[in-house]
Parts: sequence; C-alpha cells; structure tokens
Amino acid sequence: MIRRHDFNSDWWGAPAGIVTDPAFFSLAPELQRAELEPFAWAEFRHDLETAPPEPLLVDAGFALLDVQVGYRLELSPTPSVPGAGDIEVIDATDDRFEGAFEEMQSFSSERYLKIPGSSPERNDDRFRRWARLQVERVPQHSLELRDPSGIVQGWFLTEPDDDGTRLQIGMRRRGGTTRGTVLYDAAFSWLCRRGAEVGHATFSVSNIATMNVYAKLGARFTSSVGCWFNVGCGPHDDAR
Ligand SMILES: CC(C)(COP(=O)(O)OP(=O)(O)OC[C@H]1O[C@@H](n2cnc3c(N)ncnc32)[C@H](O)[C@@H]1OP(=O)(O)O)[C@@H](O)C(=O)NCCC(=O)NCCS
Repeated sequence: MIRRHDFNSDWWGAPAGIVTDPAFFSLAPELQRAELEPFAWAEFRHDLETAPPEPLLVDAGFALLDVQVGYRLELSPTPSVPGAGDIEVIDATDDRFEGAFEEMQSFSSERYLKIPGSSPERNDDRFRRWARLQVERVPQHSLELRDPSGIVQGWFLTEPDDDGTRLQIGMRRRGGTTRGTVLYDAAFSWLCRRGAEVGHATFSVSNIATMNVYAKLGARFTSSVGCWFNVGCGPHDDAR
C-alpha cells in the first residue's frame, strides 16, 4: 500500500514512500506502522473531495502540507500577452541546456520545503535534478526561453500524455527581466504551433503568481488535490 518513490528517495538520500492505496488508512495501527517503517517519510496525494476522512489521516500520523490545483488550458497558436511574440523558444533536441538550471529561480511554494530537515537549497536541488532528468527524457518537449537579445529568461518543461500535454513546470531564470506570464504564453503558443491542443497540470495553491498567470491565460481549474505527509511520527493510537 506504500511503495518506494525512487526519485524522492534518491534526492532525499533515504527511502521515501508514496501511499498507493487509500485503504491503508483503514488498517489497524500496528499494520500501518509496519507499512511506514521502511521509510524516512511518506506522501499521500488524493483528490480532496473524495479523500479518506481527516481523522483517519491524522490518526495515521499524516498532516496536510499542501493543496494542489489542477487546471486545463486550451492552447492558442498566437500569443495573447504583449511581448510574448518576441520570445525565442528553443527545444533541447540539439542542446541539453547544460548547467542551465543552476540559475533557476527558487521554488518557494513547494510542499517538500515543509518536511523537517528540508531547506530552500535542498528543495531547489530536487527540482534541478528533476529538470535535468526531464530534459534527458523528453528533450523535444523541454523548452528554453530567450529574449530578443538572446539572453535566457527561463524554461518550460512539458510532456505529451493521454490528456494532452502535461505542462510540467515553468521557471524564470534568477535575475531575468521577463515576467513569467510572458514566458508561459510564449512557450504555450510554440507548443500549439507544433500540434499541442490542450495543456494541463497541477500547481500549489500557495503559488499565487502561477495561479494568476494561468487565470490570465484562460485556464479552467478542474481539481484540488491534497498532499499529506507522514514525516516519521507513525500512527497516533498509543498516545491517546
Ligand atoms: C512562477 C513564476 C514563473 C512566476 O513568474 P513572475 O514573473 O513572478 O510572474 P508574473 O509577474 O507574470 O505574475 C503573474 C501575476 O501574479 C501576480 N502576483 C505575483 N505574486 C503575487 C502575490 N504574491 N500575490 C498576489 N499577486 C501576485 C503578479 O502581479 C501578476 O499579476 P498581473 O499580471 O496582474 O500584474 C516565477 O515565480 C518562478 O519562476 N518561480 C519558481 C518556479 C515555480 O514556482 N514555478 C511554478 C510551478 S510550475
């Protein structure tokens, strides 16, 4: 009911788990403890509306650390935000953006920041690792965004899937001068001109800039996903 999350385990340097079956929260406390035992921490993600009752989650030692908002966005071949048409978009087919993500803006709205023992540096390291893997895996859908002078302003990493195109993650370059809204619009219209029709993903509800970018670009918000974590405290029954 909890499997090892390989990417998070490699990043954290200790086994990290992901709950794969909500029935875990109906197990007896000793069985829950046995499932959790191999892991430094474990995450449970689930649609908020249909998640197990909160007392069961709390009794199993899980705390709600974030809520993510799902969205869908009709992509347009023509950018709508002033300046977006001037942004040059380059995929990573020929150039894997070597060293680029060292300069990404900090990911300050992420749930992994709240795990005890985490830090802004450690959290950013996670996203840098993830970005590099993504560029290696799907270079043709990994985009670098440059201003008219050729200066890199940011990146957008995407991936086609059964629901359209997953707009995995966008980020500005630290010290860049082009706003996120402009970069996102440029990336999305580029994707549309190459055949993508609908984009989708989730982002943290605490990331207000991102929410405003997607609202401006006409996104339809479709879901809210709770992200609960057990950070090693185990089920609570013995404490009562
Ligand atoms: C997300 C990111 C690309 C946004 O870039 P940005 O340049 O700050 O975005 P914008 O300036 O275009 O902001 C979008 C809107 O949100 C508003 N906004 C930003 N932060 C806000 C806040 N804390 N409260 C209220 N409004 C806010 C801006 O004013 C702007 O509104 P406007 O168009 O009406 O002026 C950038 O912060 C980033 O790279 N973050 C790190 C990576 C990340 O978190 N990526 C998102 C996960 S996919």
